[in-house]
Amino acid sequence: MFRAARTPVSWSPRPVTENVVCALYELVKWGPTSANCSPARFIFLTSRESRGMIRHALSAPNVERFMDAPLGVVICQDPVFFDHLPELNPEENLRDWFASDVGLAEETAFRNATLQGGYLIMAARALGLAAWPISGFDSDDVEDALMAETGWRANFLMGIGYPGETPPPERAPRLDFHAACRLF
Ligand SMILES: Cc1cc2nc3c(=O)[nH]c(=O)nc-3n(C[C@H](O)[C@H](O)[C@H](O)COP(=O)(O)O)c2cc1C
Repeated sequence: MFRAARTPVSWSPRPVTENVVCALYELVKWGPTSANCSPARFIFLTSRESRGMIRHALSAPNVERFMDAPLGVVICQDPVFFDHLPELNPEENLRDWFASDVGLAEETAFRNATLQGGYLIMAARALGLAAWPISGFDSDDVEDALMAETGWRANFLMGIGYPGETPPPERAPRLDFHAACRLF
């Protein structure tokens, strides 16, 4: 899942069924979040038509591959995620702690929804799918097109599908242990 799986550059035409979409969420939801706050929300764009609703928000290099992805996902965070805390975490007054501090709530929602988006990448890989995360898009445009009613905020996008036959380019290097890590 780390060494062999790659970010895909093309897609197989094999569709991603609704059962698989549900299976993805059923894995992602178990990934840990602080205080079990679970702020991520997922908008699944299951048709070319639905992906077309945010085509104008995509930066030019991302348009075709996102439109061609069998499944498009908007990973969002719910700014009022804390309203679910009474059901998700019985600790007393936790909801009010976040509700009374906008800065803390925003930071918590962004941190944990981003993590949950990472869990989605690994859930896709675990199910034999490939995931292509995308940050090249206009979040205001996506929010206007899809999220006006919910108030959710767009964090990043993802194309998901079975990988196509075009091999990805040679893999870019990663920082070695000594450049990226410190032991104290
Ligand atoms: C948060 C995030 C945003 C990304 N945004 C884009 C993007 O806008 N367009 C794009 O072509 N690739 C995007 N990528 C893909 C990365 O460039 C790719 O995953 C990375 O280079 C690793 O490639 P590898 O898995 O083949 O080693 C993004 C990846 C991440 C994790």
